[in-house]
Amino acid sequence: MTRHFLTLRDLSPAELGDIIRRAITLKRAQGGGQRLTLLDSRTMVLIFEKSSTRTRISFEVACTQLGGSSVFLSPGDSQMSRGESISDTARIVSSMADIIVLRTGPHDRVTAMATHSQVPVINALSDAFHPCQLLADIQTFYEHRGEMRDARVAFVGDGSSNVCQSWINAAAMMQFSLHIGAPDLYRPHPELVTAAGRRCTLTNQPSEAVAGADLVVTDTWAGMGQETQKAERLKAFHGFQVDSQMMAGAAPDAIFMHCLPAYRGQEVAAEVIDGPQSVVWGEAENRLHAQKALIEFLLA
Ligand code: CP
Ligand code: NVA
Repeated sequence: MTRHFLTLRDLSPAELGDIIRRAITLKRAQGGGQRLTLLDSRTMVLIFEKSSTRTRISFEVACTQLGGSSVFLSPGDSQMSRGESISDTARIVSSMADIIVLRTGPHDRVTAMATHSQVPVINALSDAFHPCQLLADIQTFYEHRGEMRDARVAFVGDGSSNVCQSWINAAAMMQFSLHIGAPDLYRPHPELVTAAGRRCTLTNQPSEAVAGADLVVTDTWAGMGQETQKAERLKAFHGFQVDSQMMAGAAPDAIFMHCLPAYRGQEVAAEVIDGPQSVVWGEAENRLHAQKALIEFLLA
């Protein structure tokens, strides 16, 4: 059966743990001279309908390091920009390529691609979820603090963002508690919160969410596709910036994560993202290692 990775929920908790541990092993082995051959004569097709720095580079580099080659299609490059359907595209691409990586807006485009593809489809970000980011984030937590079970994580900012909604899935799967501090108008999808049960709480007071946290996470206040809402969002998120005063409410040894790109002076203060509690650079690098482990898992 073809396995896809559209949300973290496509994995069992045990599989998720295995991928994270494999990512850590692959990272340690990097540069050790061992040649990986999983993707020998295999091709990854990346279809990106939105911009990317980290996701594109990490997937293309992962592909090279696994011995394969990649084809990258930006919005204007394929016939999808002229209305060819996702389902026809999936049939064609998957008849030639071995793995498809899709970044798009509506999440149903990702599910449609998977439904019509014979090969694994990876969600490289949709409006609803960014599961690849969570692989790297969980790996980063393991490296700094160990297993996540019973850890306390705070997400401050846009609770409806793809990154926050993936954190909710992660909380239920890895059994840590996620405390979301978000304005009332920017809450996550209620079904996700319900599904996470006691592992997820919501408040509109960021200081309550952050209290005693082992990890504080935020994301941009206006994601890709939300540019026209920027002014109203800047107003709505007033008071939700992660600055050193907010970090002071977390555990003394708390770490800070951000998927990047970051907007200093908006969702995060420079003193935090560039300060000693920030692990964002390792977090970004881990996109490479975690996705190598994911590709191995999907093609195994
Ligand atoms: N974090 C992340 O997905 O970054 P890019 O948008 O640069 O890929
Ligand atoms: N929530 C952000 C994540 C960027 C990696 C966005 O969708 O733009």
